[in-house]
Amino acid sequence: MLNRRSFARLAGVCVLALSAAVPAFAEPIVIKFSHVVAPDTPKGKAAEKFKELAEKYTDGGVTVEVYPNSQLYKDKEELEALQLGAVQMLAPSLAKFGPLGVKEFEAFDIPYLFDGYDSLHKVTQGEMGKKLLAKLEEKGISGLAFWDNGFKVMSANSSIKVPDDLLGLKMRIQSSKVLEAEMNALGAVPQVMAFSEVYQALQTGVVDGTENPPSNMYTQKMNEVQKYAAETNHGYLGYAVIVNKAFWDGLPEDVRGELDKAMTEATDYGNSIAKEENDKAMAAMKAAGTTEFHQLTDEEKAAWKEALAPVATEMSDRIGADTIKEIQAAAGTSM
Ligand code: LMR
Repeated sequence: MLNRRSFARLAGVCVLALSAAVPAFAEPIVIKFSHVVAPDTPKGKAAEKFKELAEKYTDGGVTVEVYPNSQLYKDKEELEALQLGAVQMLAPSLAKFGPLGVKEFEAFDIPYLFDGYDSLHKVTQGEMGKKLLAKLEEKGISGLAFWDNGFKVMSANSSIKVPDDLLGLKMRIQSSKVLEAEMNALGAVPQVMAFSEVYQALQTGVVDGTENPPSNMYTQKMNEVQKYAAETNHGYLGYAVIVNKAFWDGLPEDVRGELDKAMTEATDYGNSIAKEENDKAMAAMKAAGTTEFHQLTDEEKAAWKEALAPVATEMSDRIGADTIKEIQAAAGTSM
């Protein structure tokens, strides 16, 4: 006779045996895609496009649940959640890969590394991009694509025209050592903070300013709590779409093929609208009139470049001088 405890143990074993007999992916397969920005941004729209195409190409076999605006997880937590398998897909900004031990991605934060989207795409959409994504594999992560946002403006509650205007200001940054070096080079005080906390920090004066592509600044209403901004376009902010490798490799091959196709098309779509989304956000902020935007003169541009030039040299040991050179060669730029 089985006593209650052994019966319970046996029942547990039976449930385990039963679940092992069920295919690993009883349909529908659910992909939770967590991100920190608003739906109405290049990343938000590309994520929705991926959802639409993935569900269509798999005939409903895959359901993609998109969670925007840090609804599920904030910056640091979402990377942990991916590794634990609590979510399956993310698109963190390239500035946020350092803590994972993949410092090469921080090269994208180097000021004035790219002349614009064209030179950037030669890297992200070419062989160098593939090589960089492959570096994630050993961390249990598969990199699927690079998605664009745009080039950053500097903002604050005091006038910004030249680099010295940032002296002593507390500036929110993403968790990147390159961005820390950038703010230090300007004499500002860098403060790492999750994206979801920036609006309130600006509103309450916990920080004085920050840097953002216009789409992020506008959709988080940061223009309502920043009186001044300079159109420095000093650095790029973009994303790598990543998945939990064990999850991805464990998908039936045909399903993965359809998802790859959906990702390729969502990437083309997102990258084709990113510039326009940023231009529209900039126009909307100018129309709202709460922030005074300063367009740099040639002389001012040269001053920003000069002030930020030491960052690449300073960070070359961390990122790898060869990686920086390879990116520059692929982009066709020099500093
Ligand atoms: C930020 O933290 O400023 C950005 O990385 C947010 C985002 O995902 O665009």
